[in-house]
Amino acid sequence: MNEVAEKGFGFYAGGVVIGSVGVLKKGDSQLKIGGICKLAVDPIFRRNGVASELMKVADTYLKLNSFHLGALWKGHGVTPGFYEGFGYSSLNGSDIMVMELEGTRDSGSIMEAIRKEGVW
Ligand SMILES: CC(C)(COP(=O)(O)OP(=O)(O)OC[C@H]1O[C@@H](n2cnc3c(N)ncnc32)[C@H](O)[C@@H]1OP(=O)(O)O)[C@@H](O)C(=O)NCCC(=O)NCCS
Repeated sequence: MNEVAEKGFGFYAGGVVIGSVGVLKKGDSQLKIGGICKLAVDPIFRRNGVASELMKVADTYLKLNSFHLGALWKGHGVTPGFYEGFGYSSLNGSDIMVMELEGTRDSGSIMEAIRKEGVW
């Protein structure tokens, strides 16, 4: 598996991390995939928009670093429609969600690249 821990972002309140999200670099120069992972917010601070802000930061990071695709594994902890609000949609009806940032590729080749890289 060609996976590199690319970046982690923290949301701070009073000097303490209360939320985080990670971006894993996957794929290759033909299809640079940013795997969004470990989105989590301290239960005390939930439903205040912290995760939404972290998703925006991850999105900006993917765009600034020329990723072709954002991808994530839809969990059950998020409000239905949460990831869709950031431009992600289910890949072939699976639990993998993707957002195309650059170029358009057929879903078959995206699925193949993600399968090759493993699920995170
Ligand atoms: C999922 C998780 C990251 C969401 O964090 P969060 O900071 O509460 O998320 P946000 O506040 O940005 O938004 C979540 C929802 O709450 C809503 N919300 C935010 N503030 C609100 C408020 N004051 N009142 C009512 N609803 C509110 C948002 O609108 C959003 O709903 P929507 O998608 O229908 O718009 C958090 O619940 C968590 O850490 N869960 C456990 C780990 C997990 O499941 N991670 C996801 C892995 S896929």
